[in-house]
Amino acid sequence: MFKKVAFLIVLATMVLTACQPAAVPTEAAKPAAPAAATEAPAAAPTEAPAKVWTYADMTVGFLQTGSEGGWRAANSASFKETAEQLGINLKFYDSQNDLAKQVAGFQQFIEDPEVDVIVMSPLEVTGWEQVLKDAKAAGKPVILSDRRIDGFEDYYVTFIGADFVEEGRKAGTAMCELLKDSATKNVWELVGNVGAAPAIDRGKGFRETAEACGITVTKSQTANWSIKEGKEVTEAWLKETKDVQGIFGQNDEMAFGAIEALKEAGLVPAVDVKLISVDATSGAFQAMLDGTLNGAIECNPLLAPQVYEAALAALNGETLPKWIPSQESEFYMDDPNLKEIAAGRKY
Ligand code: AHR
Repeated sequence: MFKKVAFLIVLATMVLTACQPAAVPTEAAKPAAPAAATEAPAAAPTEAPAKVWTYADMTVGFLQTGSEGGWRAANSASFKETAEQLGINLKFYDSQNDLAKQVAGFQQFIEDPEVDVIVMSPLEVTGWEQVLKDAKAAGKPVILSDRRIDGFEDYYVTFIGADFVEEGRKAGTAMCELLKDSATKNVWELVGNVGAAPAIDRGKGFRETAEACGITVTKSQTANWSIKEGKEVTEAWLKETKDVQGIFGQNDEMAFGAIEALKEAGLVPAVDVKLISVDATSGAFQAMLDGTLNGAIECNPLLAPQVYEAALAALNGETLPKWIPSQESEFYMDDPNLKEIAAGRKY
């Protein structure tokens, strides 16, 4: 009997223990409660893949300065011909060398729903704050072609164009070489339109190297890139004095005007008075072959392929350097290969 009772006590103890939850360790190690049954998270909304632009998708609004000479004609042709080759829809705006018109054209492209990217060859380095801010607000990339502006680097994608200061330095170095045996080194400078980057920068670069070899720039005046004004300004100076050993034309056309004025004053261009110009258009090669121009520093107008490539990259969200310099050379009358070089030129 006792044994039976003892067995029952042991049995009861065992049963009760088994039902007791495990001693709760100091640490709460309770098995995690089964996760409440929740719905699978909704799939993240699938965003449409970003559009990948192609040239055929692109409408470019191009603000050209005007049509002031051979360089500009080649530059405009580059934009029109390359757009056709690439299948780009080009909206070409001729600012007629009028800053107010160029700003108005810029605003027009901002408001034009068809225009995806704006390209500008700015007539002057200032005057762009409002339209640049408006273009950014409208989400339209801006690319500078040919000429830089002052500041606002956060408001344009890139500047594709020449180092105008270096062009000026090259012209000064060439003039130093031409006048190295001259007792006096008085040089006149025909300047582009006031406020234009090439006018400002070429003048700066020219003085850096020319003055280092003893040249004095005794006269300097705008002739607005033109043959007519280049001739008129030089004629007026020649009426004052003929004590000039060199003329620096900041572009070919102004140098051509100076050449005409020198001839009419009885002076032999490139001999009595040395001449250096910038651009190296076909007219400059002809003047060098004629023996009336001593040298031409190249400024490359065929920028459209690089500009359109940058525009497409910008639309596809790529980051570009703030300046993509164009590659350029220099040419001189006494180069024995000048005729062959001229024959191979595109402009
Ligand atoms: O911006 C380039 C300059 O513009 C060229 O040197 C000149 O011919 C044109 O007017």
